[in-house]
Amino acid sequence: MAISKASIERVNAAIDITGLVGEYVTLKKKGVNYEACCPFHDEKTPSFKVNPVKGIYKCFGCGKGGDGISFVMELESLSYVEAIRFLAKKYQIALEESKESLAEDQARQSEKEALQIVVAYAQEFFKHNLHNTEEGKSIGLSYLKERGLRADIIEQFGLGYALSDWDALLKSATEKQYSSDNMEKAGLLVRNEESGKVYDRFRGRVTFPIYNISGKTIGFGARMLGSDKNQPKYINSPESPLYDKSQTLYGLFQGKQAIRAADLCYLTEGYMDVISMHQAGIQNAVASSGTSLTDGQIKLIGRFTRNITLLYDGDKPGIKASLRGIDLIVASGLNVRAVVLPDGNDPDSYAKNFGSDALELYLKNNSQDFITFKAGIFAEEAALDPIKKAEGIDSIVETISLVPDVIRRSVFVKEAARLFQVPESALTEAVNLRVFGRLRKPVFRPDSPEIEALKQETAEPLPGTENTVLYDLEGEIIRLLLLHGHKTLEEKFLVAHYILEQLSDIELKSKIFKNLITEYMERLDFGESMGPEYFYHHPQEHIKQVIIDLCEPLQEKIIFHTHRDFEDFSEWETENLHKSLFFNIMHLKKQHVLEEIKSLNRDLETAADEDEELRILASILEKKKTEAILTKELGDVINHL
Ligand code: CTP
Ligand code: MN
Repeated sequence: MAISKASIERVNAAIDITGLVGEYVTLKKKGVNYEACCPFHDEKTPSFKVNPVKGIYKCFGCGKGGDGISFVMELESLSYVEAIRFLAKKYQIALEESKESLAEDQARQSEKEALQIVVAYAQEFFKHNLHNTEEGKSIGLSYLKERGLRADIIEQFGLGYALSDWDALLKSATEKQYSSDNMEKAGLLVRNEESGKVYDRFRGRVTFPIYNISGKTIGFGARMLGSDKNQPKYINSPESPLYDKSQTLYGLFQGKQAIRAADLCYLTEGYMDVISMHQAGIQNAVASSGTSLTDGQIKLIGRFTRNITLLYDGDKPGIKASLRGIDLIVASGLNVRAVVLPDGNDPDSYAKNFGSDALELYLKNNSQDFITFKAGIFAEEAALDPIKKAEGIDSIVETISLVPDVIRRSVFVKEAARLFQVPESALTEAVNLRVFGRLRKPVFRPDSPEIEALKQETAEPLPGTENTVLYDLEGEIIRLLLLHGHKTLEEKFLVAHYILEQLSDIELKSKIFKNLITEYMERLDFGESMGPEYFYHHPQEHIKQVIIDLCEPLQEKIIFHTHRDFEDFSEWETENLHKSLFFNIMHLKKQHVLEEIKSLNRDLETAADEDEELRILASILEKKKTEAILTKELGDVINHL
C-alpha cells in the first residue's frame, strides 16, 4: 500500500532530529550544533554533526549526511517507506494509505520492496511445505529432526523446505499473481539459457532464510539432504537489489540483542554453526554466508560490540586462508580473538559430542588473542625453518601495524616479542615503519575536475595507485614546510632553510611538489615566508586543491595512528618539531634510495657487458650502505619519539 503524501509530511514535521539521533549516539552540544562520534563509520574523535534547526546531520569523516528519514534508513537498514512507517509508529502518527490493487501497488513501490514481497512469499511457501506437505514432512522435517534440531529453533530460524518439483514455487506464486520477473530478479528462479524457460532455483532442499537486520527475508541458503557428491551442499541466493552479501550477516537479526548483552560476537563459518550455537544456548553468533568477511559486515557487528571472536572448525588449510579476516577486523579498530575447535569438530558436532555447556566452556577457555593465535599457526613451521619464522613475524608485524591505536600497538608488540623471542625494539621499528609509511594520505575528492587535470598534467601516481608511499612522504614534507617553515629550530635557523637544505641532494618525484618548492624558494629569497594560506588562493586550481587536502584538518581522518585530535597533534608536532622533521626527511630519503636501488636492479638486467654489470653492482652496494645508515637513524628516532 502506498502512503499518502500528507502523511509523509506529517511524519517529517514530527521528527526531532537530536532526539532521534540521540537514541543511537551520545550527542554533545557545540554552539548551535551537536556533535558525536559517527555511527556510520568507526572513529574516536567526533566528526559527526547534527544541525537541529535544519533537521539534518553530516559526518565530515565519512561524508554521510541527510535528514531524519535518511538516518533511520541507514541505521535500521530500512527502505524509504519502511523508514516512514518506523517513524510514524515512533511519533504515533496514523498513516493514511491509498488503496490500490496489488499490481498497481507493486509497480509503484521501489524495486527493492517489490522483491521483498516475492521473497516473503517464498519464505511462507517454504515454511508451509516443511510442516504441511507429505514431502516436506517426510524428507525435510525428518532430516532436521534427525540432526537434532529442536522445534523452537526450526521456528526461530524460519527453516523451510523447497519441494523437488521443477516449478512448485513458480506455480504457486503465479497463481497468486506474484510477478515472475520479480521472482527472477530476487534470485528465486533460474532461467534456462537455451529454452528461455524459468524454473525454481531451490528444489528438494531444506531452506535457511537470510534475514536483514530488521528481520525481513532477503535471500536463502538451501542445503541438500544427505550427502550426494555430485551436488553442491548449499545453493545460495545470488546477490540482488535486496540482498547485498557484503552487508549481510547470517544470524545477526536473531543474535543482535545477545551480542550487545555479551559484548561479544562469535563469527562462525556457516548456517548450521549459527543454529547449533543457538541451540546450545550461545546466541551471540553470526556467519558471513557464502562470502569472505567484508568491512561492511565488520561495521555491522561494530554497532553491537567491539569484540569479535573468530570460530574455526578444526581443519588447518581453512584457517590460514582466513587470516585476512583478522587483519580486516584489527584495522577497523575492533578487538579480535580466535578459537579453533578440536579434532575436526564444528560447533554442531562438538555440542552433540560433549554437550552445550562443554561447548560454551571450550570457547571461553580456548579463545586466544590474535597474536598468540597467529604465532601458534606459524610456530610448527617456524621451529624448523628460519625463513618461515621470518614470514610469521612479518605477518604479525603487518597485523599489528593495522591497529589504529598507538598504545594498543605497543602492548601487542611486547606480546609478539615475547612469543617470537625477538627484541622488542626491532619489532617496534618494523611496525612503525609500516605505520608511518601509510600515514596521513591526502584526502582527494576522487571526482573533482582538479584531480582529473592533475592526473593528466603530471601523470603522477595518486593515492590508491602505485607508489603512493613516495607521494605521501613528499606531501608530508611539504605540509611541514608550509605549516612550520617560518619557525626557528634551536633558536638558530629557519625551519624552511633546514628543510630546503636537507632536500637539496634529492629530487622530488612529484612534479607538483617540485614546482611548489621552486616557487617557495624564490619567494623566500625575497624575504617572504609562506603558510598554507598562500597556496589556498593559488592561481593554479590543482595546487590549491592538493594543499588544502594536505593541510586542512577537517578533511583529514585525523592522525589515525594516535587518535589524537588535531589540536593535540599540532601541539605534539610543534613540541617535537625537530624530531618530526628529521624523521620524515630520513624516511623520504630512504624511500628515494630504495627507488634508486630498484632502478639499478632493472639496469642490471639489461647491462651490455660484464664491466657495466660490475659498475652497477658497485653502485647498488653503495646505495645499500646508505639505506642501512638511514634505517639505523630512523630506528633511533622512532625509539625516542
Ligand atoms: N557453503 C556454501 N556452499 C557450499 C558449501 C558451504 O555456501 N557448497 C557455506 C555455507 O554458508 C555453509 C558454510 O559455507 O554454512 C560452511 O560450510 P559447511 O561447514 O560445509 O556447512 P555447514 O553449514 O556446517 O553444514 P553441515 O553442518 O550440515 O555440514
Ligand atoms: Mn560446518
